[in-house]
Amino acid sequence: MKLLIDDANIENIKRIYEYYAVDGVTTNPSILAKNGKNPYETLKEIREFIGNDAELHVQVVSDTAEEMILEGHKIVDVLGKNTYIKIPTVQEGLKAMKKLSSEGYNITATAIYTPIQAYLAAKAGANYAAPYVNRIDNLGTNGIEVTRKIHDIFENNGLKTQILAASFKNSLQVLELCEYGVGASTVAPEIIEGFINNPNISSAVDVFTKDFEGLCGEGKTMFNCD
Ligand code: E4P
Repeated sequence: MKLLIDDANIENIKRIYEYYAVDGVTTNPSILAKNGKNPYETLKEIREFIGNDAELHVQVVSDTAEEMILEGHKIVDVLGKNTYIKIPTVQEGLKAMKKLSSEGYNITATAIYTPIQAYLAAKAGANYAAPYVNRIDNLGTNGIEVTRKIHDIFENNGLKTQILAASFKNSLQVLELCEYGVGASTVAPEIIEGFINNPNISSAVDVFTKDFEGLCGEGKTMFNCD
């Protein structure tokens, strides 16, 4: 499972990249709005930092296919070919996906709440389909089960579309999809950091350090204990 950062704050992105092996960044209009800057200013800064090989996912906001297509062309012109055009999986969005995928653009079908939406997006040529795990949970349906079902639909129908699971609110949701082997998950920085932020892990490591210092002296390590 690929792991992407669901955020547009450059400081957060730099911090996660420093410590974790991640595959790129996803944004949406609400995430970009939090930065309060022009979207292209934010996105160019992210692209420059993550490099041209990493995935960057950027969403269109128009409500007609023709305008979504114009947005998609501009997004890739400005941000480079490894930029995925995120298109909401509504009727106009499916039309835009068909056209843009036939032109060779990378597409992420977003705002997926149901398996049948994901199937239609895959048929329209989307590279990724993004089910909103936690938002589905909030509707009283199991977001993990919906995502697994989408995974199975793709596999059982020979569809090449991958899952890019999104909208997580806790580690367990991510872990369950990792275990199932979905293509990718995009996760907010605080949840990624929460994966490893565990007092039991820290106290186990502290005991090792104390025992070693008891043997060799305070501040000593394997670098300077001889
Ligand atoms: C994916 O890219 C979605 O836009 C995003 O994960 C939605 O997350 P939210 O439900 O936390 O807003």
